[in-house]
Amino acid sequence: MATIPVPAPEAAPAETSGTKIAPVVVAFAIGTAVSIGLGVYGRLHTPTGYAVNISGFSSGPAAKAALASVVMVLAIVQTVTAMAIYGRIRLRGAWLNPVHRWSGRLAILISVPVAVHCLYALGFQAYDGRVIAHSIFGCFLYGAFVFKMLILTRDDSPGWALPLAGGLVLSGLTALWMTAVLYFFFV
Ligand code: HEM
Repeated sequence: MATIPVPAPEAAPAETSGTKIAPVVVAFAIGTAVSIGLGVYGRLHTPTGYAVNISGFSSGPAAKAALASVVMVLAIVQTVTAMAIYGRIRLRGAWLNPVHRWSGRLAILISVPVAVHCLYALGFQAYDGRVIAHSIFGCFLYGAFVFKMLILTRDDSPGWALPLAGGLVLSGLTALWMTAVLYFFFV
């Protein structure tokens, strides 16, 4: 059977010899604390229940669902550009890193007002399985994001740490989107 040639991961970040695991563990612990902190805040704070109305949208939840979907699309851009940067797909160009960086910045920026409304107005709710899953994934997402940002700032992280952190962010966001937006649009 003919074998498909796998391109060498030319653009993959070089694995440095002096990698350290301790900063990854610390970053993970900080991210975990952020997730737990958000969850505790969402649970202890009395939800205000205030509604937002943004012109052009039929309702506040519709605006949130649209914004969350834009965040999901940007996360897919992040995934594709990350795979290209790591040489996993045949895409090349100097634009890859800036597109990866800016799609990530934009995604987080757009997600914040949605998450603030969720946490402040709705709170961490547990009245059914889907809602508790959404609340958990919402808190998880920002912990994973903090973990990723802390890894990014260090040159001595092992090569697997950044893909792991990016994967956690993507998984959290996908689960969050499915438990809120999919339900909102299709159920
Ligand atoms: C930070 C932690 C978060 C908590 C505790 C939380 C909690 C909640 C709760 C309790 C609901 C109502 C669920 C229902 O009855 O259907 C909800 C809805 C929703 N959430 Fe979140 N959420 C969080 C983060 C996020 C994030 C980061 C996004 C998107 C970027 C998001 C997007 C949505 C959307 C689109 C809805 C449906 C619209 C609505 O009911 O207002 N949430 N959230």
